[in-house]
Amino acid sequence: MAMLTLFRVPETGGWVEVGMIRGPIMADSPVSINLPVASNAAPAGPSAQEQKQMEQAYAQMKRKMAMEEIGRKIKHKIMVLSGKGGVGKSTVSTGLALSLAQQGFTVGILDIDITGPNVPKMMGLDGRRLHVENGRIHPAQGHLGVKVISMAFLLEDEDTPVVWRGPIKLGAIQQFIGDVEWGELDYLVIDFPPGTSDEPLTVAQSLPDIDGMVIVTTPQQVALLDSRKSITFSESLKVPVLGVVENMSGFTVNGTAAPGTEVSIAAPGGKTLTTTADDGGKFSVTLDIFKEGGGKETAQEFGVPFLGALPFDPGFVRGGDDGVHRIVSEPEGASAVAFAKVVEAIQEQLSDGADGGLEII
Ligand SMILES: Nc1ncnc2c1ncn2[C@@H]1O[C@H](COP(=O)(O)OP(=O)(O)O)[C@@H](O)[C@H]1O
Ligand SMILES: [Mg+2]
Repeated sequence: MAMLTLFRVPETGGWVEVGMIRGPIMADSPVSINLPVASNAAPAGPSAQEQKQMEQAYAQMKRKMAMEEIGRKIKHKIMVLSGKGGVGKSTVSTGLALSLAQQGFTVGILDIDITGPNVPKMMGLDGRRLHVENGRIHPAQGHLGVKVISMAFLLEDEDTPVVWRGPIKLGAIQQFIGDVEWGELDYLVIDFPPGTSDEPLTVAQSLPDIDGMVIVTTPQQVALLDSRKSITFSESLKVPVLGVVENMSGFTVNGTAAPGTEVSIAAPGGKTLTTTADDGGKFSVTLDIFKEGGGKETAQEFGVPFLGALPFDPGFVRGGDDGVHRIVSEPEGASAVAFAKVVEAIQEQLSDGADGGLEII
């Protein structure tokens, strides 16, 4: 005995309850059914709203899968944050990327800063536009083959400020993450606008398995206070802090004098520093322009690693203007050496298996 309660209506693709069944139903016997479908009934497919919801769900699923694949293809993802602007976040992001590239790693930089995207300039890619092929965004290649994707590639000209409403901005970030064809990377360095705003949260929710964040600070008290905020923020993001980098830490003065001569130099704060010229007649003294050791103190206070200090080097400013990064113009200079040490400290943290992250949405 067959029990029929539902029947598929071919024209609409929907299911209707069978209105009436005539005669006794025997197994294997034909059944005639009265369907409440008029021959001229308009097809009642999913409503426009349902259709839109389905499309959105599909697009979201596709993006999620793309992000998971990107997550697998990129071995390490590092966020670079600071509480305050102008402390050298972009200088540090590009410096870390180039230092890693110097060691032979394949590296990418994702520059999320829409309001002040200066990564392309530092990487010699000023004036580039987005390159899209088969619906995928292809990164530009800057110094040492580092792949770069920047919000700046979207700007008509660098003097036009971008005022995007929050949701559009965050949507653009997700798209940048999901639609970029990075290929296989050893490291992806992500540079952010200053402050603890929505951007890091969007990235943390979009990109799986972020290794951690590097917090940039200067030795000044205000920057330190802000970097403390960033450390607290990391807890809500569930992305571990890899450590603190102190930027613009000291200014090294190099000079020559007769071998063995004692040299004294007037330092900031009324201090006098003395040193002795070596056998080759060279001397060097590092002046603490701001305060000393603040980054280290913050790191200790919060129980996070101190990754090292980067000197104040006017070559960074020049590099930002002429498009040749300090690490490229002086690959063995004091700043390049300092960056290599920071990279080493980060790699040590990574091998400790720091792992975390939000659920990917
Ligand atoms: N260690 C440094 N020595 C000298 N100048 C630096 C150093 N780090 C950054 N700068 C300069 O400070 C300015 C701000 O740096 P930037 O990296 O753009 O900061 P942020 O991304 O945090 O806003 C730039 O002009 C940059 O060249
Ligand atoms: Mg910046």
